[in-house]
Amino acid sequence: MRSAAPTAKRERRAPVDFAGKTYLAPLTTVGNLPFRRVCKEFGVDITCSEMAIANNILQGSQTELALLKRHKSETIFGVQLAGSRADVIGRATEFVSRECSVDFIDFNMGCPIDMAFNNGGGSALLAQPRRIERILRTMRHVADCDITVKFRTGVKNNVNVAHELIPQFEAWGAAMGTLHGRSRQQRYSKSADWEYIGRCRGAAQQMPLFGGGDVLSWEDYWAHLETRQQCDGIMVGRGALIKPWIFREISERRVWDISATERLDILKQFARFGMEHWGTDSQGIANVRRYLLEWQSFLHRYIPAGILEVLPQNINDRPPPFVGRNDLETLMASPLASDWVKLSEMILGPAPDGFAFVPKHKSNSYEG
Ligand SMILES: Cc1cc2nc3c(=O)[nH]c(=O)nc-3n(C[C@H](O)[C@H](O)[C@H](O)COP(=O)(O)O)c2cc1C
Repeated sequence: MRSAAPTAKRERRAPVDFAGKTYLAPLTTVGNLPFRRVCKEFGVDITCSEMAIANNILQGSQTELALLKRHKSETIFGVQLAGSRADVIGRATEFVSRECSVDFIDFNMGCPIDMAFNNGGGSALLAQPRRIERILRTMRHVADCDITVKFRTGVKNNVNVAHELIPQFEAWGAAMGTLHGRSRQQRYSKSADWEYIGRCRGAAQQMPLFGGGDVLSWEDYWAHLETRQQCDGIMVGRGALIKPWIFREISERRVWDISATERLDILKQFARFGMEHWGTDSQGIANVRRYLLEWQSFLHRYIPAGILEVLPQNINDRPPPFVGRNDLETLMASPLASDWVKLSEMILGPAPDGFAFVPKHKSNSYEG
């Protein structure tokens, strides 16, 4: 790893003006560079890498280092780091800040999965403010860009701690915070608690507070941001996976009754971006297919606006099976992985013999 000459004092990059911008959530596996490019085409302002484990970066893991790559279309781009030790995170922050093109580095305090939690990382940190303080102060000290934080309401249901932590995050150097309005225990069950996000906004002095959870329509977006003024900006995760054109709907404040052919064109564009990113040899195409299928495990949940009885679609409602306005629309709504493979074949040609696909994320289910 290269390090800057000790005498060379590096300039701090200009702080990011986050407030009011649309923010595509960091999304492990599915929030890859080609997907983020698709969202950029639909007008999202801020993008973030998938979560990268600080320790793996320091060990030079190629897969982890690949996560740090920014596409030139990403105008405001951050890398998200996860870990539990201030020294390790500090060195990874220094590396990212010096060697990568980033506008901010986000620290993950929301990851609910056991592997992170049992190592004291992700949402486990929410119960350890002294440790967070060491980590954030170190990150702030070594980075020449903004440090941001992403967190949940707390570890357990009904024991909210975010409102107490927010003023401290700010004092320890965070330039922006994003609160996913659920506890670790809650995972994706029940709706995100936007009222609590609104209360938390009042706990911040200067730091913009972004909210996140369940936004799948422009109506929800503007209701949280403008009507109820619950936050300074909104991060969209599954909503962008299910319908990446949500960012256009948000800026135009109207529903787009997109046709199945137009949706297929989006998939074709993803495949083009994917081939640029992963390559066009057989391994490259295999990657494009795999990531397209991972994405389809979310995309199939979209219900075309034109056939929905009551708008907008609610992210936590499991829709009854429906027949689309043409065969392609019906195929795109299929919950069967074998149908997703058929879709991939329309774009990438035949899958290898005996190919089968099992999605990685459980959150394509409704409880996740
Ligand atoms: C497939 C998937 C992968 C995710 N990966 C990450 C991640 O790498 N880092 C992170 O902070 N949050 C991650 N999240 C959480 C989202 O960033 C977001 O906070 C959460 O999904 C709530 O927002 P939503 O209801 O708009 O999806 C992930 C969520 C999903 C569904």
